Amino acid sequence: MSARLFTPLQIGPIEVPNRIAISPMCQYSAMDGTASDWHLQHVTRFAMSGAGLAVLEATGVEPIGRISPGCLGLYYDENEKALVPVLAMARKYALPGFKLGIQICHAGRKGSTPLAWDRSSPYQPPERGGWETIGPSPLSFQEGVPPPREMTGEDIARVIAAFAQSAQRAVRAGFDLIEIHAAHGYLIHQFHSPLSNKRNDEWGGDAERRLRFPLAVAEAVRTAVPSHVALGARITSTDFDEAGLNVDDAVRLAGELKARGLDYVCVSSGNIIAGGRPATGPGFNIERAAKVKAETGIVTRTVGYIAGPQMAEEAVASGKVDQVALGRAFLDDANWGWHAAEVLGADLAPPPQYMRVKPGSWPGNNDSRAC
Ligand SMILES: Cc1cc2nc3c(=O)[nH]c(=O)nc-3n(C[C@H](O)[C@H](O)[C@H](O)COP(=O)(O)O)c2cc1C
Repeated sequence: MSARLFTPLQIGPIEVPNRIAISPMCQYSAMDGTASDWHLQHVTRFAMSGAGLAVLEATGVEPIGRISPGCLGLYYDENEKALVPVLAMARKYALPGFKLGIQICHAGRKGSTPLAWDRSSPYQPPERGGWETIGPSPLSFQEGVPPPREMTGEDIARVIAAFAQSAQRAVRAGFDLIEIHAAHGYLIHQFHSPLSNKRNDEWGGDAERRLRFPLAVAEAVRTAVPSHVALGARITSTDFDEAGLNVDDAVRLAGELKARGLDYVCVSSGNIIAGGRPATGPGFNIERAAKVKAETGIVTRTVGYIAGPQMAEEAVASGKVDQVALGRAFLDDANWGWHAAEVLGADLAPPPQYMRVKPGSWPGNNDSRAC
């Protein structure tokens, strides 16, 4: 029987050729939010990787919405313009049907970090290109990081509008899919979680009020994104803390997003508090994602240490999820999709220039045309 992993999937208005997605991963290689040559080669490699979809890294909706000074942004014309050749190059060499998405994000109190390879401090101060962060409540994320400034009503309105404007920029740049980052402890998650939102105005308090900001962003972005572009969100399925969010909160959020016209969710977890993703085993979000899918019926992707093609196949063939995302596996092996196809007996042709990597056609094996 053919592998379910290599069957197409409809995500709202778009069809992806298989159920493998490349997870968004910060590259810390942008300048003032603008993509560089690094992104040209990085995204093009992913386009040829055998994955059906790649989602570009967390992209700030305003300068202080970036995670680090090296993160992508979509708030200046220059940011938008620089993504056009990245998409063009990737599409020129993409395997058939490949789709490209981008994750839009506000880092909130987890912004202004140094680049990932600079471990000297968890915080990049303004005199070194960083900024004062904002958040729902003035609670520091971790020791050594100043608390964020508590957001005013004006801040909240500005950020909601910035999400919509960045989504419009992503549409103009030509992305097939837009993903709202509502997980991993960034601003939307900060409003949702009782661990980081201690407000007692209309944006905080009980579960319904803590959901207002996430849903206001979703509504604004939905309105801004035309119907030919897929729209979804990465959500958290647990804060790994008894006082925090759990899978029932994820089910509720996913249901509310579906009701507002979002096409999919990607179920992740953790990182709302420092050390907030304990050591976890292979496929650690799959069962919680399965609950979200079963209870809401929304197209569901999961992510988190999918430990090889068999585990990916089992996750989708069982019907637990519709799609899997892998991050580090694709950094390690940008041809992961080809190798998964080989293991699962699926028919996936690499680009013609690389045809001879196929098993059975190596020089000295059985290819008489080998040179
Ligand atoms: C270098 C790197 C950068 C990441 N940046 C992002 C990001 O921008 N947005 C996001 O949602 N997750 C980000 N993540 C998390 C991954 O998308 C993924 O959820 C996580 O690595 C677990 O999947 P994996 O086990 O397949 O790597 C990043 C992970 C890595 C390794």
